Amino acid sequence: MKARIVTLPGDGVGPEVTEVAVAVLQAVASHYEHDFSFEPHAIGGAAIDACGEPLPAGALAACQGADAVLLGAVGGPKWSDPNAPVRPEQGLLALRAALGVYANLRPLQVHPALASLSPLKNERLKDVDVLFVRELTGGAYFGAKTRTADTATDECKYTVVEIERVVRRAFALARDRRRHLTSVDKANVLETSRLWRNTVQRVASDYPDVKVEHQLVDSMAMLLLTQPSRYDVVVTENLFGDILTDEAAALAGSLGLLPSASLGEGRRGLYEPIHGSAPDIAGQGVANPLGAILSAALLLRHSLQLEAEAQAVEAAVTHVLEHGPRTRDIGGQAGTVAVRDAVLVAVEDHARTHHAFFSGARACG
Ligand code: NAD
Ligand code: IPM
Ligand code: MN
Repeated sequence: MKARIVTLPGDGVGPEVTEVAVAVLQAVASHYEHDFSFEPHAIGGAAIDACGEPLPAGALAACQGADAVLLGAVGGPKWSDPNAPVRPEQGLLALRAALGVYANLRPLQVHPALASLSPLKNERLKDVDVLFVRELTGGAYFGAKTRTADTATDECKYTVVEIERVVRRAFALARDRRRHLTSVDKANVLETSRLWRNTVQRVASDYPDVKVEHQLVDSMAMLLLTQPSRYDVVVTENLFGDILTDEAAALAGSLGLLPSASLGEGRRGLYEPIHGSAPDIAGQGVANPLGAILSAALLLRHSLQLEAEAQAVEAAVTHVLEHGPRTRDIGGQAGTVAVRDAVLVAVEDHARTHHAFFSGARACG
């Protein structure tokens, strides 16, 4: 198939991991006879430096015309002065809003080979398989902001429409998994959370086959660490989802491992690892590219509907987690490029053994 993919490498380690994800998608295209085109654009700090704004109109228009968007990360100390008039993160938020990608899927699995890296005891990590569905285009991120010398406010607002569409998406996803949905809120304090809980309760009657539970966010932060294998699909608002998924990444062994897919109504999606620009390791060639590669797998699955290809990439990542090489954050010594090369070999091997029409260069070798 033909697909147009816009890449937004961004800042810090963003370009380092995006380059690897693109190489993997190119390998998939070549082994499975697809025609993927890649169009890079600046976003975030790189775009501020180049043209003064974090999401230039040309980049946004390209994303709106693409089949899928693959993003690295934005931000960094250079642009983090609290008094700065414009910030890299504004570009990412504006992009999510403009693309209407309200449902942010963040799957968490704990690979047995990495269980020893987690701060938790191994037996707690058995069978951890959680799909977080984070609301992505509402809440405190997008409410009105005010600021005077001694006061600041961030309005947290949700409408029923905003809640209902992401909750329905989470119910639908739960139906295809273990039929258990946990809705996380702070309904004992926040009005937005009470609207959220009312909406979940109403929508639940359309999904009688899915078991629903409500959990307050503070105790959820604890339960994620003490009983992570209890959870199947977890749906929550924007800010809670941001925080809980970085916490969840510690269970997997590293923030560098977790991918995400941000989806709206159509097939177009925005795909990015959940980590940031990692300024402390940027430019050293040691960033873990697996979160970005797994995001590319989600792109194949959700935007291009290439399930076999998505599974091939995921199998290649599992193979590399089991056999190495590994980057430093998951206990290895390897650099980003060595991991890339190992994943590329594993994708090719997988295609050769599982794909009847394999057309890779080493097919006869
Ligand atoms: P971060 O995710 O950039 O880094 C947190 C820690 O995780 C660091 O020690 C870092 O080295 C490590 N880490 C992250 N990704 C890694 C990888 N791929 N391989 C190995 N180690 C990795 O979070 P932060 O330091 O709080 O934020 C830095 C900047 O990134 C901020 O400007 C923030 O706004 C931005 N940010 C952007 C995104 C995004 O673009 N989607 C996401 C989160 C943070
Ligand atoms: C993420 C990031 C972003 C968020 C920032 C960079 C705006 O932390 O994608 O998790 O908070 O959504
Ligand atoms: Mn985050």
